[in-house]
Amino acid sequence: MAGGLLIVIDGPAGAGKSTVARRLAERYGLPVLDTGAIYRALALFARERGVAWSDASGLARLTTELASDANAASDANAASDANAASDAAVSSDANAASDANITAEAATPGIRFVPAHAPGAAQRVLLAGRDVTAAIRTPEISDGASQVSAHPAVREGLLGIQRQLGARGCVAEGRDLGTVVFPDAAFKFFLTADDRVRAARRQHEQREQGRELPLEQVLRDLQSRDERDQSREAAPLVQAADAVLVDSTGKDLDAVVHAIVAEIGRRQAEAGPKARLATRSRPGQSPA
Ligand code: DC
Repeated sequence: MAGGLLIVIDGPAGAGKSTVARRLAERYGLPVLDTGAIYRALALFARERGVAWSDASGLARLTTELASDANAASDANAASDANAASDAAVSSDANAASDANITAEAATPGIRFVPAHAPGAAQRVLLAGRDVTAAIRTPEISDGASQVSAHPAVREGLLGIQRQLGARGCVAEGRDLGTVVFPDAAFKFFLTADDRVRAARRQHEQREQGRELPLEQVLRDLQSRDERDQSREAAPLVQAADAVLVDSTGKDLDAVVHAIVAEIGRRQAEAGPKARLATRSRPGQSPA
């Protein structure tokens, strides 16, 4: 794929993809593309429109509606301009500008991603102009996202948005990025961890959002979601043949990020100076 540097991280729920993606994005001055958020937004959209998560033709219709929205195209630019915006750091002007943007888009249908103001911070997700960043993170919507993502027409329909959003380079995280969405990505990683470790992380995330859930329940939900994501026919969760496996069990975040940065550095050194330039550190950052 032509365009900027693309680093993709696939793996099961709770493996630490989002946090690692954010740290890498910060490290290389790239925007983050959270593709799970797109499936989550579709699940929420379906719920609000009264379309069942099992209704293949209803979901195909909603997907077309989301995907045909011109916002996707304009946000591809916005997302890839995150570097430029983030150079201004978290200035209040940047916040004001983007809030104005959100308000202006309030009547627009479809899904929009608002790039983070600071490098490496999480993007915000708007659905028909509403900020649904928090609403798509409930356990119910996690399950819904997994269900809607199993429909081939949904996956096919959301390919274009993902490619547009990633076209100018990003750190993208998901399930089928290295295999289907960005098969030519320069760097592919498959991040995983022991089931119980992943469940404990998810439990912690939910607690931070004010939901207290028993570990056994989180573990059961996570395993059934993994099972569905791995066994679906369309683009199942699977490690790409050329992805590097990283197991985060027993490792802290710094160690995982360090391992990935080291691998990228090693591969760039092999590829020569041209590749090194493409992922130069942001000014003022020390090499990992
Ligand atoms: O990464 P996540 O937990 O936000 O993803 C939610 C669901 O979306 C996940 O269970 C499967 C689906 N998904 C997918 O099928 N392909 C992706 N690239 C990303 C997510």
